[in-house]
Amino acid sequence: MSNKSLAKTPDETCILVTGGAGFIGSHTCVELLEQGYSVVVVDDLSNSSQVALDRVRRITGTDVADQMHRLVFHKASILDRQALDQIFAEHSIDAIIHFAGFKAVGESVSKPLEYYWNNIAGTLVLCDVARGHGVKNIVFSSSATVYGEPEFIPITEDCPKHTATNPYGQTKSMLEQILTDLYVGDNEWNVVLLRYFNPIGAHESGLIGEDPKGIPNNLVPYVAKVAVGKLEAVGVFGNDYPTPDGTGVRDYIHVVDLARGHVAALNWMGGKVGTGKAIGLGSLAGTPAEDGTRRGVGIFNLGTGTGSSVLDVIKAFSAACGKELPYVIKPRRAGDIATNYAACDKARTELGWVAEYDLDRMCQDSWRWQSRNPDGYATAQ
Ligand code: NAD
Ligand code: WQD
Repeated sequence: MSNKSLAKTPDETCILVTGGAGFIGSHTCVELLEQGYSVVVVDDLSNSSQVALDRVRRITGTDVADQMHRLVFHKASILDRQALDQIFAEHSIDAIIHFAGFKAVGESVSKPLEYYWNNIAGTLVLCDVARGHGVKNIVFSSSATVYGEPEFIPITEDCPKHTATNPYGQTKSMLEQILTDLYVGDNEWNVVLLRYFNPIGAHESGLIGEDPKGIPNNLVPYVAKVAVGKLEAVGVFGNDYPTPDGTGVRDYIHVVDLARGHVAALNWMGGKVGTGKAIGLGSLAGTPAEDGTRRGVGIFNLGTGTGSSVLDVIKAFSAACGKELPYVIKPRRAGDIATNYAACDKARTELGWVAEYDLDRMCQDSWRWQSRNPDGYATAQ
């Protein structure tokens, strides 16, 4: 079966967003709706709340009837073949943005089966059902984790991948390979692998944001909990790295910038932006289809190109919330690397996308979300 064409306008295009109730998914729904796309979300709510989607509706318009129509939610797992089949039969889906999956690095070490099953098997079921309905356009949430200990900094997309040190990272690397092989076996596929660096921040409305369960594993959600008085002090994992202040350096990217990167990827797949020159995995670059849309495998880093240390983050967040946040130096965390930031030239030239927001803005937006929703979505109306 041939692939659905993306050679049309957003208001004629319907996107299936798996994991759309989650942190990055909900922000991407906002950007898609604001550009005029119709959105179908499939999420099993295993790590999210439906309230996030009510908030997305609030942000994107007051016309409830229209919003209900343009943002449809199905509570289902991507492992549920029957449910997916029904969703594809019910909606005329043109492309998939695939966020659904488990993402906690530490948990993946103790629950490898759950991680491989959910992330790998889930994606296989999704792609199989999609193919059966003639949908072979997919944008996948990959991660800078596929570079492992990077061979050079800033990291370009050509930087060799290294074996991930945990099952979560393995699933990202394996899924990149699986999606690439889909294209090799069937040149109708149109695949974009987006390698996110460290997404933080929240929508400027303060209505949606990151809502981790329990004690956060990642730096900024932890700092935000300290700022709101739910945790005592930030533990800084090591101050003896070969970095300017000794603490780990990362490429933090505003989640709204990241969300816009997905819209840019759809434009690229549709042949609406980009140089048209060979891109992607060498010979897997693909050639334009007859309708001008792309076929192949495009790989893009989504970051800012700027590295910030743990202490930079604590300082910026302290400024955002108006008080000095306490921190204590702790030993290094196993598996952490010293420095990690992206070269973003490829996304700029091909996708026409650049990150706009700096660390101060990320922390301000994160603080607005956290201070207005100290319990996340749990007690939200
Ligand atoms: P998130 O947990 O907030 O969102 C993932 C969503 O997927 C959740 O709403 C969850 O309920 C849903 N989900 C999980 N398994 C599912 C299943 N089997 N069927 C249907 N829904 C399911 O995470 P996020 O931070 O928004 O991340 C989104 C994607 O981006 C993930 O694939 C993640 O691995 C990837 N990613 C995240 C980061 C990050 O730091 N947040 C960095 C790189 C890549
Ligand atoms: C950032 C920096 C820590 C917590 C992870 C995943 C990666 C990707 C993004 C999904 C590091 C330090 C942290 C704390 C600290 N996710 N830190 N105290 O590890 O760069 O990336 O999220 O794909 O795969 O590994 O992000 O926010 O955990 O850490 O000092 O309480 O903050 O050592 O230098 P990381 P992070």
